Amino acid sequence: MSERAIFDSLKDLPLPEVRFYPETGSTNQDALDWAAQGAPDLALIVADHQTAGRGRLGRSWFTPPGAALAFSLILRPALPQPDLLPLYSPLGALSVAMVLEQIYALQPLIKWPNDVLLNQRKVCGVLAESLWQGNVLQAIVLGIGINVAPASVPPPDQVLFPATCVEDAVGKTVNRWHLLAEVLKTVIHWRDLLTTPTFLTAWQQRLAFKGDKVRLENPGGETFEGILLGINPFGHLRLKMNDGSEQTFTVGDLKLRPLS
Ligand code: BTN
Repeated sequence: MSERAIFDSLKDLPLPEVRFYPETGSTNQDALDWAAQGAPDLALIVADHQTAGRGRLGRSWFTPPGAALAFSLILRPALPQPDLLPLYSPLGALSVAMVLEQIYALQPLIKWPNDVLLNQRKVCGVLAESLWQGNVLQAIVLGIGINVAPASVPPPDQVLFPATCVEDAVGKTVNRWHLLAEVLKTVIHWRDLLTTPTFLTAWQQRLAFKGDKVRLENPGGETFEGILLGINPFGHLRLKMNDGSEQTFTVGDLKLRPLS
C-alpha cells in the first residue's frame, strides 16, 4: 500500500486536509479530537488499520490491516440544524450504496437506518458522532467502515449480523482508494440534499426488508414487531403492527432484525 496512491486518488476532491494513519485506535475518535482543535469542514482521516474501531450501540468494529476502508469525514454544516443529525448516518449508507451500484453494478440495500447489505449480509457500517459546545453543534463526524477484501470480514462468532465484503460480490480485486474517492464525492454531493424529498426517496428505494416482518429492539430490551412499510419524511421507520395500526420509530439506539 502506498500513501501516495491514497492522496492521488483524492486529489480532485475539495478536501482541505487529509490525514492518513497506517494504524490508529479509531478514526472517529481522531476526527472528534481534530474537530475540537478546529479542523475545517471536509477534513478527512483515513486509516489502514484500526485497533479500537467502534460501531453503533457500543459495539466494536473490525478493521484489520490492508483489507478494509475506515475513514471519518468532519462536517461543519453552514447552518447547524440538530434536528438533521439523525440523517447523517443514512447519508453515509446511501452514498456507499450508490457507489456500489454505479461503479460495481451491485444491488446493495440499506438496513434501516444505516447498514449497507449485499446479498443480505452487512458490507458497511456507519457511525455519525457529533461535537457540541454547550448546546451548540460544532461538527459532525461521519465515520464509515467498508469491508473490501475477504480479510476484512469479521469471524462469524464476532458479529450479530452475517457479514460479507465488496470483493466477494464483485468477484475481483477492488481498489480501496478509488472506492473511497467515489464515496466521498457522493457524500459531498448529497449532504446538501438532506432535507429534500429526493434524498428520502433515494434512501427509501434501497430500504431492505420492505414488506417483511421485522423486530426492533431498544437498549432496554423492549421489542416491537411488525411489517416494515418504509420511512416517513423525517427518516423515521414505519411499521404496521399486529393490531393493524401504524407506528413510527426514530433513528436512534434501535436494533433491527428480519424475522423471516
Ligand atoms: C456500525 O455498523 O455499528 C458502525 C460501524 C462504523 C465503523 C467506522 S470505521 C471508521 C470509523 N471509525 C470508527 O471507529 N468507526 C467508524
